[in-house]
Amino acid sequence: MGILQKIKRKIFQINFERKEVQIDKKIGGLALNKRLETKHQSEGAKDTQSTDYRLLGPIFEKVVLTSKDKFVDVGCGQGRVLSYLLTEKDFKGELVGIELSTEVAVFTKKRFDGYSQVEIINKNAVESIPADGSVFYLFNPFDGTVLKAFLDSFEKTVKNPALLIYAVPVHHTEFDGREKFSLVETFAVKREFMEYDAQIAIYKFDPQL
Ligand SMILES: C[S@@+](CC[C@H](N)C(=O)[O-])C[C@H]1O[C@@H](n2cnc3c(N)ncnc32)[C@H](O)[C@@H]1O
Repeated sequence: MGILQKIKRKIFQINFERKEVQIDKKIGGLALNKRLETKHQSEGAKDTQSTDYRLLGPIFEKVVLTSKDKFVDVGCGQGRVLSYLLTEKDFKGELVGIELSTEVAVFTKKRFDGYSQVEIINKNAVESIPADGSVFYLFNPFDGTVLKAFLDSFEKTVKNPALLIYAVPVHHTEFDGREKFSLVETFAVKREFMEYDAQIAIYKFDPQL
């Protein structure tokens, strides 16, 4: 990459981060764009990192939520997706975030103080899946072993048809051979100055199958 391209990329990054921070600050007044190293690596957890806003627009153009939905962010981290739905989508339904790390969950709970439609649960998602959730979101929260356990538990727990959005679906093969899950679509989101596109997979879950 030439020097001019590098300067253009830097300017783009600064402006982009500024925009991200502005949206983050609408709730809780803090930026959420720093990656936090996990203390739960031995339990298969990935670091806490907020979804890039450039993914959220295309995802929620495809998955249109209504006020009857119960949206669950599995591994909610600092809650960027939950606050995006509140501030940018004016979502009126229930929002649940499940977060393994106590430190992160305490921060996120505080962020949503006073928002009665938001519940933050500080537990292992494998053991605490809301049975009545209708749309589940996973931004690559854990490794393949934990995803397998999560999907086993999901099949036993969730009572109604649901959608599962898997952003950056690194361990997507864990869905293979599961009759109750069918792949609706996968798509890629192109991002300026990023070497790779972000992949998104959307699955439909039917408990009757
Ligand atoms: C990549 S971050 C995603 C944060 C958020 N969903 C977002 O998109 O902005 C993944 C989060 O999942 C959490 N996590 C990992 N394993 C978990 C588990 N078994 N149960 C609940 N949360 C978990 C991590 O602590 C981390 O905060």
